[in-house]
Parts: sequence; structure tokens; C-alpha cells
Amino acid sequence: MRVTGIILAAGQGTRMRSDLPKVLHPLGGCPLIEYSVSNIRKITDYKPVVIVGHGAQEVKNLLGEGVDYVFQEPQLGTGHAVQQAENLLKGDVDIIVVVTADMPLLTEKTLKRLLDIQLEKNPALALLTTLSEDSYGFGRILRDPGGKVYEIVEEAHATEEQLKIKELNASVYCFDANWLWEALPRIPISAKGEYYLTDLVGIAVKDGLAVEAFVIEDNQETLGINTRAHLAEAEAIIRKRINMEWMLAGVTILDPVTTYIERDVIIGQDTVIYPNTFLRGNTQVGAGCVIGPNTIIQDTRIGDQCQVLSSTVEMAILENNVDVGPYAHLRKGAHLAKGVHMGNFGEVKNSYIGPGSKMGHFSYIGDATLGSGVNIGAGTITCNFDGESKHPTEIGEGSFIGSDTMLVAPIKIGAHSRTGAGSVVTKDVPANTVVVGVPARGIRKASTSD
Ligand code: UD1
Ligand code: CA
Repeated sequence: MRVTGIILAAGQGTRMRSDLPKVLHPLGGCPLIEYSVSNIRKITDYKPVVIVGHGAQEVKNLLGEGVDYVFQEPQLGTGHAVQQAENLLKGDVDIIVVVTADMPLLTEKTLKRLLDIQLEKNPALALLTTLSEDSYGFGRILRDPGGKVYEIVEEAHATEEQLKIKELNASVYCFDANWLWEALPRIPISAKGEYYLTDLVGIAVKDGLAVEAFVIEDNQETLGINTRAHLAEAEAIIRKRINMEWMLAGVTILDPVTTYIERDVIIGQDTVIYPNTFLRGNTQVGAGCVIGPNTIIQDTRIGDQCQVLSSTVEMAILENNVDVGPYAHLRKGAHLAKGVHMGNFGEVKNSYIGPGSKMGHFSYIGDATLGSGVNIGAGTITCNFDGESKHPTEIGEGSFIGSDTMLVAPIKIGAHSRTGAGSVVTKDVPANTVVVGVPARGIRKASTSD
């Protein structure tokens, strides 16, 4: 059986009150629509089809070549939306899974179960339903006395009695493709001027064909994002799911409610995460680390046995046994080798700090390469920018940079050299040399006892 998916994403999402198309609003660190696309990809074999309309170009920019697009204009309802894919798909696939782009909590497992029902029983369509007290905005499921679903009635058209029905249409379907293409043109126009996909249930029943319905266990999965309040609700649920996975995988999270781990993050066993910590983007944290509290880590690779306390770390690499913070800022391209200690109020950008080097207090290291065992005194600054361009600094292994040294780049400090407190170094310093003053000058060879 050839199976593909259609993702409905042409609607405006008016209730978000946003310039950004609804399906591009971020949830758990990635745009809403990615959830449905990635689920569809996992259960189908062919390129998914995304129905676009409002914000079409932005959706295309995000999803790129990995999916096919069909433009729906004007937007005349969910049935009309699916019909737009006919030319692209007719004859090429046997089963079509239809989901909306605004139901990010639906799991791959649930979608797979629905598809399995379609594959086993081969009805005209199979649909997901949900039981909820909070029925606002949903289509109601009508069942005959034998328990068979025979119609879906949209809320706007439901009678008083029908409005009381607690079984709701989730808006997730599998269709027999041949029947779908044949039945879509038979959907009548509604009083609101739309073609409802939900009318296909009544049409299948009148055709004497089977309709299968599967009641979803966890009605959280059917939360549809229509407002920013839904977005926050979904965010909390996603956060809880992700945190739970990591706790079951051996990560200690002291306060899951204030721990924000995005979905592509990876964390090693026995790492402890303190409250108010954000692990974002493509971040990896090794085993046995202590992260937080009050820490933001973005697109960063952290080795084993590291500590990051109250710090902000972006696009950096920390090798094993590195400790950072409190109040450190690692920026793009910061690479702290094994055993580096970086204390409070330090900033490192686009620099390699060699193994075992230490910078304890308020320093700025930018565009620099430090050897191993370097000691950076409090207040050291690499003056890397002359107002026009950035210049590199090199500090050889075992060097000792005195407190408050200004290293005016481009500059090289040879291995095992020393700078005096408050020196302003404007010229390269050879190895094993002590320099002092403003501008700094050499005064003697550095001895091993220095
Ligand atoms: C739909 C269902 C309703 C179900 C509910 C669950 C219909 C008629 N109703 O209602 O039974 O309970 O979802 O959330 O299907 N879209 C298009 N083109 C259009 C119209 C909509 O692509 O012309 C897309 C939207 O972008 C959205 C999805 O289809 O992703 C659902 O549309 P929406 O208007 O939100 O339908 P609901 O009123 O929520
Ligand atoms: Ca909706």
C-alpha cells in the first residue's frame, strides 16, 4: 500500500492576532507545523503534501524541498483544501492521511494506530475522535444506536441536543484515496460557504461504505492551537513530556516546571539540572554534569562532568571537566578544552582555551588561541577590535597574564611568559619573558619560580 499524508496549513489563524502565520509560531523551540510534518514523515513513505495559503512563502521557506506544496486560494474549507491535492496525488497513492498543522501534541503512536486500522479494515475512511467536556469549536460525532459513526456535525450547525455530545472530531483521518477523489466533489457547500471535509463521513455512510472511528485515550493530544493561550498550554505539556523522558533516562531535574529543554537536546546519564535552566536548539550535555540554576545553553556541546552555574552559553564547546560560572558568557565559537576553569563575569568569544587553563574573574577573551595551563588574571582584556576589524591574540602554554592586562591585538605572547599587573601589551612577547608597564616592555627572562 502506498501511503502519503496531507497537512492542512492554509488557514489564517486569525485568533492568534499575529503577523506571523499561525503554523510558524514556535512551540518547544520549533515551529508548530514541524510537529505534524515530522509525524507524517514517520508513518508514510511518500513526500508529504502541505496545503498552503496564508503565509505560503514563509511556510515554504521553512520546510524547503522536503515536502510538496499545493496552494489553496481562496480558502473554502477543509474539504476544498484536500481537493486541491488531487492533481498531484491521484493515481499515485492508495491511502491518504490528513492532519491539520495546528495539532502539535498528536503523537506518532496515535497516528500509526489510526493508519493500522485503515490498513487492516480497509474502510472508506478512519477517523480519530476524542472525549472531552471542553467541546468548544469542535465538530460533534453522531453514532447510531448500534454505535456506528454516521455523521459529523460542525458546532455552528449543531442542534441543542447535538451540542451536548462529548465525543468530538479530532480532525485526523485516513482515506481510501480512490474513494476520496471520487467523493470530494460531492461535498455540498455549507451555509457558511465552505466545503467541510467532515461531510465525507455522511457521504461514505450513504454510499454504504464502512467508517471506522478510533477514540484517542489522551485528549491532550488533540489540543488545537487557535490562540496564544493554547500555545502556552501546549508548551507546558510538551515541556512535561520532554522532561519526563529525560528523567526516565537517568537525568535528575530538580524542578521540571522551571526546566525548559527543547526537543533536539541530548543529555547524559546522572546529569543534574537545577531550576530555571533552558537547554535550547542543538545542544548536547554529557554525563555527570551539573547545569544551572539560572542557565541558558544554546546550540552547545558539553562534555562529561562539567558544571555550568548561572551562565549563558551560546554555540560553544566545553570538553570534559570544565567548570563555568557563575555569571559567565560563552559566545559563538568559544571552545573550552578539558579541565578549563572559567569563573565569574568572564566572556569568551571565538576562542580556544587550552586544557587546564584558568580565568577566574571578569575577563574578555575574543578571537584568541590559548595554550594549555594558561592563567588569565582578573580583568584581562583582549583588545581585539580597533574600530574597523577584529584581530587575533595568541597566548602560549603556561603563560601568566597579570591582573588588568590589556592585550592589544594582533598580538602573540610566547609560552611561559608573564605580564605584570596593569600592563598594556602592544608588541609581541617572546617565550619565557616578563613584561610590565604601559606600553609593556621586557624586563627579564621568566624563571620557573615566577
Ligand atoms: C475542524 C473540523 C472540526 C474539528 C476541528 C478539530 C472541519 C469542517 N471541521 O474545525 O470538525 O472538530 O477541526 O480541531 O473540518 N484549512 C485549510 N484551508 C481551509 C480551511 C482550513 O487549509 O480552507 C486548515 C487550517 O489551516 C487548519 C485546519 O485546516 O490547519 C483546520 O481548519 P480550522 O478552520 O481550524 O477548522 P476547525 O474550525 O477547527
Ligand atoms: Ca482548528
